[in-house]
Amino acid sequence: MNPEFKFSGVDEGAIRQLVEVFYGKIKRDPGLGPIFEAAVSRSPGGWAPHLQTMTSFWSSVVLGAGSYRGNPMKAHFRLPHFELALFERWLSLFSETAHELFEPNAAAIFVNRSRVMAAKLREGLEMHRAGKLPE
Ligand code: HEM
Repeated sequence: MNPEFKFSGVDEGAIRQLVEVFYGKIKRDPGLGPIFEAAVSRSPGGWAPHLQTMTSFWSSVVLGAGSYRGNPMKAHFRLPHFELALFERWLSLFSETAHELFEPNAAAIFVNRSRVMAAKLREGLEMHRAGKLPE
């Protein structure tokens, strides 16, 4: 357990709720919704496996759960091209949700991690699209 969470009450159940509320907003967003609709809603298990993957992902990143096995960069390379400015919208919905559900110090940890990862993903996508990275 990350010591930063000793008193904040953030556990895997709380992260599950963060993920559910956040992707609820994503689905309703006019820019992001259709991208997820195409990639997630039409995949074999629909939303359930994605929500589980994202709960494992955030639990591993923040609580050190070690349950996420995947390659986020490759998962985004596979998507049809989308406008990279949408990262700002993704980050703003994520920050809004984290602050709705968690106390400010806990929310800030999630938000900071999301910004670092968004910057890496965005940079990776830019290089990939420019042909500077292998498939
Ligand atoms: C505009 C921004 C973004 C879009 C449009 C987007 C879209 C998606 C979509 C459609 C998937 C599902 C892919 C699939 O099931 O094949 C996915 C998976 C995922 N995304 Fe994003 N994403 C964005 C930003 C982010 C950010 C900032 C993070 C990290 C903080 C993130 C982390 C992940 C992870 C961990 C997965 C699961 C990868 C796996 O299957 O192991 N995404 N994303």
